[in-house]
Amino acid sequence: MNLEELSQLKETAISEAKAASNVHEIEDVRIKYLSRKGVMPSVMKNLKNVAPEDRGVFGRTANELKNELTTILATAKDSMASADADASDFDFTLPGEWKNTGKSHPISMVIDSVVEVFSKIGFTVAEGQDIEDRYHNFEALNTPMYHPSLDQLDTFWFNDSQLLRTQTSPVQIRVMESQKPPVRIVTPGRCYRRDTTDATHSANFHQIEGLYVDENVSLADLKSVLAYFAKEVMGKDVKVRFRPHFFPFTEPSVECDFSCHVCGGKGCRVCKGSGWIEIAGAGMVDPRVFECVGYEGVTGFAFGMGIERIAMIKYGIPDIRFLYENDARFLNQF
Ligand code: PHE
Repeated sequence: MNLEELSQLKETAISEAKAASNVHEIEDVRIKYLSRKGVMPSVMKNLKNVAPEDRGVFGRTANELKNELTTILATAKDSMASADADASDFDFTLPGEWKNTGKSHPISMVIDSVVEVFSKIGFTVAEGQDIEDRYHNFEALNTPMYHPSLDQLDTFWFNDSQLLRTQTSPVQIRVMESQKPPVRIVTPGRCYRRDTTDATHSANFHQIEGLYVDENVSLADLKSVLAYFAKEVMGKDVKVRFRPHFFPFTEPSVECDFSCHVCGGKGCRVCKGSGWIEIAGAGMVDPRVFECVGYEGVTGFAFGMGIERIAMIKYGIPDIRFLYENDARFLNQF
């Protein structure tokens, strides 16, 4: 090959490189000229056959050609990649990508809002433990093992002394053991009972417990706190009533009902015709409980309510099982 042939080669090679319009063509040109068995290496090998006086110019021209081809092909490839990124051949008729964002479960939403209502009047949150012992779940709550209420609280036992807590009430004991009065806490959490699951029962459910201990706390304080809570959660028209009841760890004990949110108290299917919905168990802390934790000279009230029950009322959920199935079609409604 002589100088003239080289300059012809240069012209064709560069115009081929410039004409390459997609990644495949670019790669073809690269292989043809620049690969190990391509045109350019053989041109270089041919250098020794070039007339000695032309060798300098020939070598320089061949090198320039090689560099120029490399640059043209690299630039073309780069601009093609960014054109891809510009989505020049993006199919706008394809369905979009759905991104699911997480959010709070209705049970967590109810816990958060109940905690917020009580925090406005000075209650702080305390947490207990799901695995409790017999002493904190029963005995310190004035519920000896032979007590008939144990039949109702059908318990999951690990062994003779450890169990899954049947109520959040043991947190009352743990908090009073660990601090001096006054106490003003709410404690949300999971509870476990050997209940058969149906539309309103689940073996694993949530409660929120409240405890207020100080000098001269009275039943009137309990009533006003629960009435305040009712209005915050259900609106100002809700009515509240208290019925005498029995709990081993409160005396006197009451059950607290809210007027039915569906019929406003007239009586309907939801309240089973009574006009009232049972919300909380409550009462004045039994002196035997204070004895167990070494509190003296104070009185207090406690209450406990089911979170699922409140969620079902607040959102009109007909079956407790919806709350545990994690069906996105259900959860997305909240
Ligand atoms: N722990 C009781 C229950 O699970 C509710 C309760 C709490 C009653 C606090 C009185 C005081 O039924």
